[in-house]
Amino acid sequence: MNIKGLSLNTIPPIFLPLRFFLTAPVFGIFAALLVIFYGSEMWSSRWLSSSLAITHLITIGFMLMVMIGALYQFIPVMIGQLIPGGERLVPLIHPLLIIGTLSLSSGFLLKINSLYWAALISLGLSATLFALSLLPLLVARLKSHLIVFILRILFLVLIITLGLGLYMLLAYANPDAGIIYREYTDIHALWGLIAWVVLLIMAVSSQVIPMFFVIPEFSVHYLKLFSILMVMTLSGLFIVDMNLLKNNFVTLLFQLLLSLELSFVVFYILSLISRRKRKLPDVTINFFRLSLLSLLLVILLWWGYQYEVVLPLDSYKVQFEYTIALLLIYGLALSVIIGMLQKIVPFLIYLHLQNLSFKHPESMMAEPKLVLNMKQIISTLQSTVQFYLHLTSYILLGVSMYFPQVVVLAGLFMLCNFVWLSYCLFKAVIIYNNNKNRILQFPEMKMNFGF
Ligand code: HEM
Repeated sequence: MNIKGLSLNTIPPIFLPLRFFLTAPVFGIFAALLVIFYGSEMWSSRWLSSSLAITHLITIGFMLMVMIGALYQFIPVMIGQLIPGGERLVPLIHPLLIIGTLSLSSGFLLKINSLYWAALISLGLSATLFALSLLPLLVARLKSHLIVFILRILFLVLIITLGLGLYMLLAYANPDAGIIYREYTDIHALWGLIAWVVLLIMAVSSQVIPMFFVIPEFSVHYLKLFSILMVMTLSGLFIVDMNLLKNNFVTLLFQLLLSLELSFVVFYILSLISRRKRKLPDVTINFFRLSLLSLLLVILLWWGYQYEVVLPLDSYKVQFEYTIALLLIYGLALSVIIGMLQKIVPFLIYLHLQNLSFKHPESMMAEPKLVLNMKQIISTLQSTVQFYLHLTSYILLGVSMYFPQVVVLAGLFMLCNFVWLSYCLFKAVIIYNNNKNRILQFPEMKMNFGF
């Protein structure tokens, strides 16, 4: 593992980030149960309440949940500074996010107004508290660190995505207000699924891949340039979309630019991965490969569909939209996040056990060892099972859009994917608790500075 430049002593209490990682898969389980319950009906239109509920159980309940936890864990390690007020705010942010996600998805399903209001208030509050806790770090004059730069842009993108989401939710909660919101759905989805997810993947890849897979450092210049260009291109598309500037040539230019930028990210990260110094097989890297290939497929499919390269595809419009959403959410985002959890949770547990054993030095002599290495916390076999469950459920979900007979099977595999993830993470926490208690039984070293 490459830990150059990391502040391994500046870490928050373990359950501060861990609570987000442990709750996230539960929302994946809920989403899978809805897929099994609604079956192929949910693939029949974008606007079905079941599709909206499943989308947000995954995007907010799983993706946003893990992102917040990862930021609370990684920012301190990367920049040597804890997120201000974390210990006071997280006990509020976390339950508000849970309540918000549950009320939003049940609101979509049951169409009950008070649930929309509950979602609006709790999601609005948790997003504001999270933003407030990050703000001092983002505006501080920190030494130029790539992660801080990407975080600043990520922050802006998240404000746009969540802001539009909350605005549309206000329209749902208060139908009499006559808010016209449908024109914002695509922009909300585009900024969420392209800008937020791709920046998130870059932020994670640029920090986690060199650290755990020992590959060359990411070029700071490339990543800075790419993030600015992508936000500018999406802003350009936004202006064109809102009919502020109607010009087919300009639209085509922005679409071309976006495709080139995204392709660059795919090939750049794949080429770095292929230059890995440690050649030992590591199944978790396959999650990153799967994610990047999904993005490449999105670009190719989108152009193929747009310009009817293969067939006149109009009759497949709904399936096409769902395929793109599946590739972006389940393929691009979930693959990286599930792969990352297989690494960062064992790393977090290892780090805390090691720091604790320094305070109780006699525990280091204990046999079997109490500070376990990462593979003893989540084993290669567990990660391999996870990868194949994820891959199978991903393929089956894609197939089920065209062959509805397999949708229940796809939902079952999706359920297994999230149940297995939950099992691996909870088992890791049980290992942590047992070993922590055993280390604490050894005498604590008293610091004597001779004063
Ligand atoms: C505060 C958080 C959020 C709220 C309140 C929210 C709210 C909404 C609402 C009300 C809609 C329905 C719009 C309509 O009927 O036209 C919607 C659609 C959508 N949202 Fe969100 N959203 C949030 C976060 C996110 C995030 C983080 C993502 C993705 C990364 C996302 C992705 C989507 C997508 C893809 C759709 C379109 C679904 C479709 O076309 O079937 N949302 N959102």
